[in-house]
Amino acid sequence: MDLRGGFTSRIGFILAAAGSAVGLGNIWKFPYETGQNGGAAFLLIYLALTFLLCYPVMVGEIAIGRKAGLDAYGSYQKLGGKKWGYLGLYGIICGIMILSFYNVVAGWAFGYFIEISFSDLLEEENYGAFFGRYVVDFWDNLIFSLCFMLITAFIVIKGVQKGIERASKIMMPTLFIILIALIIYSLTLPNAMAGVKFYLLPDFNEITIETLYSAMGQAFFSLSLGMGALITYGSYVDKNQNVLKSAATITVLDIAVAFLAGLLIFPLVFSQGQSPEQGPALVFVVLPGIFQAMGPVLGKLVGGGFFLLLCFAALTSTISLLEVPVAYFVDEKKIPRKTSVWALATLVFLLGLPSMLSQGAVEMFSSLPFYNGKSTLDFVSEVFSDISLPLGGCLMTYFIATRWGTKNMSEELAQGNPHYKGSFYERYINFTIRYICPVLLGIFSILIILDKFIGLDKLS
Ligand code: TRP
Repeated sequence: MDLRGGFTSRIGFILAAAGSAVGLGNIWKFPYETGQNGGAAFLLIYLALTFLLCYPVMVGEIAIGRKAGLDAYGSYQKLGGKKWGYLGLYGIICGIMILSFYNVVAGWAFGYFIEISFSDLLEEENYGAFFGRYVVDFWDNLIFSLCFMLITAFIVIKGVQKGIERASKIMMPTLFIILIALIIYSLTLPNAMAGVKFYLLPDFNEITIETLYSAMGQAFFSLSLGMGALITYGSYVDKNQNVLKSAATITVLDIAVAFLAGLLIFPLVFSQGQSPEQGPALVFVVLPGIFQAMGPVLGKLVGGGFFLLLCFAALTSTISLLEVPVAYFVDEKKIPRKTSVWALATLVFLLGLPSMLSQGAVEMFSSLPFYNGKSTLDFVSEVFSDISLPLGGCLMTYFIATRWGTKNMSEELAQGNPHYKGSFYERYINFTIRYICPVLLGIFSILIILDKFIGLDKLS
């Protein structure tokens, strides 16, 4: 049994799950998605979807894991029968694919940390051009993302208890402090208020179907939902923990970091006269400017510190992504943790190579003819996260609604929360999971698939 282990305390689980949630999704992806989708209108929809829809999904996912006490595949099988195990496998495959590209971007962040701290990145004149050169540098990318994978693997080998809990405890509070300090500084820059307006004053004409499903995909990605990461973490949680409260804390922490990241980035974007719509390059192009302006000594210190923390945030996320398939091999195949970790880390790293080479380094990977000429990184990220996570959430809530039953879920949630039964919360969560989530997430999933592969504009 002690192959598995468990979280030692409530705070241990919250930190680990919040560590999984807070990552590149908040600081790298959220700002560029917001920038591409009209600013404040996107933020508003994102917040609404997170609280109304994603929170119940998170509660449901943790409940499944805690009830079954197994990896994603085993949990679905145990509660739903053999066929439902495939839904767990689906999540495991998504996890592997998400990690493959996530690790590449984490490698960029790691590279920036090294280049700022130990080299002369802060003397560059044009960070857009620098980033363009940076992502095609084969050896830098290879080495930094390999390092990242190795560190992830070492921590996951140590197991949830020692590795994951400990890694989360110090980093999160530090990340908050540095974000807030940088925001205060960035708000004093010329034209910063234009960025604040863009970010906080919604223009409802900007809302399209695409805004809706992009916000949905972003919310799932950011909260680590839809693929069984929280089933897996939930399986390590004690029965006397209040799952509803823990999930609320995790959601609020995750939103807070994303919100602060936006509040930092957009004033910078506008004060530097940049476009908010530049996509995945955004934070890598905009952030070095603020560190440069601080002068060589302070800039190196704060900039290096920032990217180091970003790496830590990404690390607690890669840990959770790797833990999902590892738990599967440990629980279902009885393969020792160490062997599982090394085998999977190698596989994931190799699967990530095309994404790594897709930013201009190798033409074949950089422009996929069957995917509108987009890059492999875009393809993997859109298929396995933007599309697959909301679809996974749809299927998971459908599983609760039709197979496991909201009644059983309520029983599970009432453990550690004696007032749950009959409360408003219970009714709200059951209703959302039974009716709203399967239907709405199903519709979103179909729309996004149509749009990504055919183009919604071509359909109308
Ligand atoms: N939520 C993380 C982030 O925002 C990424 C992540 C970690 C994730 N584990 C996950 C996404 C599981 C989806 C599923 O950076």
